[in-house]
Amino acid sequence: SKKEESKIPEKIIVGTNAEFPPFEYVDDNKKVDGFDIALMKEIAKRMDKKIEIQNMEFKSLIGSMESKTINVVAAGMTKTEERQNAVDFSDSYYTSNQAIIVKKDSKITKLSQLDGKKIGVQEGTTGDLISSGDKFGEPGKEKVIVKKAKVKRFKKGVDAVMDLKNGSVDAVVIDEKPAQEFVKNNSKKLKLVIDSAGAEYYCLALPKGNEEFKKEINKQLKAIKEDGTYDKLKAKYIDN
Ligand code: ARG
Repeated sequence: SKKEESKIPEKIIVGTNAEFPPFEYVDDNKKVDGFDIALMKEIAKRMDKKIEIQNMEFKSLIGSMESKTINVVAAGMTKTEERQNAVDFSDSYYTSNQAIIVKKDSKITKLSQLDGKKIGVQEGTTGDLISSGDKFGEPGKEKVIVKKAKVKRFKKGVDAVMDLKNGSVDAVVIDEKPAQEFVKNNSKKLKLVIDSAGAEYYCLALPKGNEEFKKEINKQLKAIKEDGTYDKLKAKYIDN
């Protein structure tokens, strides 16, 4: 079975959670789209492989990889040491930070001011870990930033934002780009504060131990960055 694991899959089955614009979302035609999806389609095309997208809860992605229902996670997933126990990560394709979404009149400007507050997060994300008092940060710089908040976990980030609007939570901790999108759609009531808990490197999660597949994915990723395709996709989906 070692031999079988080291193969490049015939079909690339991508797990995502399309609740994370602009990286993945469900568009007006009910299709899953976004930067990560476009990037994976480009990779699959260059590998001459068919691709299938499976939309699921964020917290189910790693388990689906372990049970081999999917063979790639493309979900704005931050490379963390914990997750590396279950999956391998490709080279990074995007660097991000956490953001805090608060009501317009809020005095909160830092993650450390969230102690004792109610925080809304998307379940299983790095925003959840940071808010839940886990050690967090770049390798060697890990620390606990929020020590004792009340964390309310949602399947969708957008639902956490709804709770913030109606006053059930004091803040939402979520990655910067989706935070910007959610605030843009509620700009009369909400604002965004950036207080990085450390840079977060988005990577594709891949089956653990499949070096051949990882090597090929990284090769394509590198080519996509070098020939300008990455910048085109970034301009289309992220910097628009
Ligand atoms: N970068 C964060 C993490 O890895 C959040 C990712 C959420 N992605 C999503 N598609 N909902 O935990």
